[in-house]
Amino acid sequence: MLKIHDYNFKKKRVLLRADLNVPLNHNLQVADTHRIEAIKPTVEKILQDRGSIILMSHLGRPGGCYVSRYSLRHILPTLKKILGTEILFARDCIGSITEAQVARLNPGEILLLENLRFYSGEQKRDVEFAQSLAALGDIYVNEAFGVLHRNDSSITLVPKYFDVKMVGYLVEKEVKNIQRFLNYNTSPVSALIGGAKVSDKLILLEALLDFVDYIVIGGAMAYTFIHASGGYTGASLVEKGYINDAKNFLYKAKARGVSITLPSDSIVANKIAMNAKTTLVSSYKIPEEWIGVDIGMHAIKAFQETICKAQTILWNGPMGVCEIPEFSLGTQALVKKMAEHALQYGVLSLVGGGETGAIFRKLGLEDTLSHLSTGGGAMLKYIEKNTLVGLQALNVM
Ligand code: 3PG
Repeated sequence: MLKIHDYNFKKKRVLLRADLNVPLNHNLQVADTHRIEAIKPTVEKILQDRGSIILMSHLGRPGGCYVSRYSLRHILPTLKKILGTEILFARDCIGSITEAQVARLNPGEILLLENLRFYSGEQKRDVEFAQSLAALGDIYVNEAFGVLHRNDSSITLVPKYFDVKMVGYLVEKEVKNIQRFLNYNTSPVSALIGGAKVSDKLILLEALLDFVDYIVIGGAMAYTFIHASGGYTGASLVEKGYINDAKNFLYKAKARGVSITLPSDSIVANKIAMNAKTTLVSSYKIPEEWIGVDIGMHAIKAFQETICKAQTILWNGPMGVCEIPEFSLGTQALVKKMAEHALQYGVLSLVGGGETGAIFRKLGLEDTLSHLSTGGGAMLKYIEKNTLVGLQALNVM
């Protein structure tokens, strides 16, 4: 397998798939630069070798047609600033005008293509679309860790047309760290799993039973488990179709000796909005019409204890409705404890997921972690399957 470090890109046109799917604020400016910063070493390596880069990505889910708020043009100023270089822009990701722009590209230059998902061929794996993209480069480099679980054209089809293909430094680093977690962890191992839906995390939770000692479950998904355990969850989000799965999971965990902790108390609100009325109640006795929006103080203490018992920690998903700052206090308390524990004992700590990662960065605590993944969904899929379709397409594993 080719390693980016060993390859000389001199005079090569590199088709570089990145994950520039970054959050934009209401002024359409980049609100979180983590994913852009993460591709910098690979971009620098190619440019220093005097190769040129055709940079491609998706942004959002525009559904196969042009939607102006999802134009990659919005990220250009931030991209130029972080990568420290001029970047040309192609208003289409394929077609004769783009091909002409590519032909004019000099060594050391970057051309950013417009959003791949403006074509339905990207997610429908259209062969002609993939061939048009592949024709733009001599070498294919995949640096889009956050999308490696998607069977999209630019991830699994385009590389088929290249003899020289490899992953970038970011993907190498992501894979190395998840492998460390899966294969070289030190017990006890704790997993903190949050987020809205059980349906998104059930397979992961089952996979975790193979190698963790403790699991804490927070976020709205906890209420499906609490309901399954006989609690009254008021108007909290409960996935009725998953109550049996939740029961089975709790049963399996018990049989396997894995300790599961659900939030014993919750902050509940009369609506999910800023300045809503809130109160603290038992998570098992939530009054009618009240919604669980964050873990309560007893839950925080119990979850922090689970962090402190661990030598290895995995965290994915927030413990409350973090987009509303007053409901992010539980998550923040755990972030601080995890940072403190990681610093003091040097534990192996792996965090993935946009919202959780954003809180570590907001509190300036990201450097306390062994690894902060750029891809929540991809990281979880890797833990579930021990591989990713995007890596298989490159014969990396
Ligand atoms: C992400 O942000 O998780 C990746 O960019 C994948 O995006 P998607 O879930 O829209 O495929």
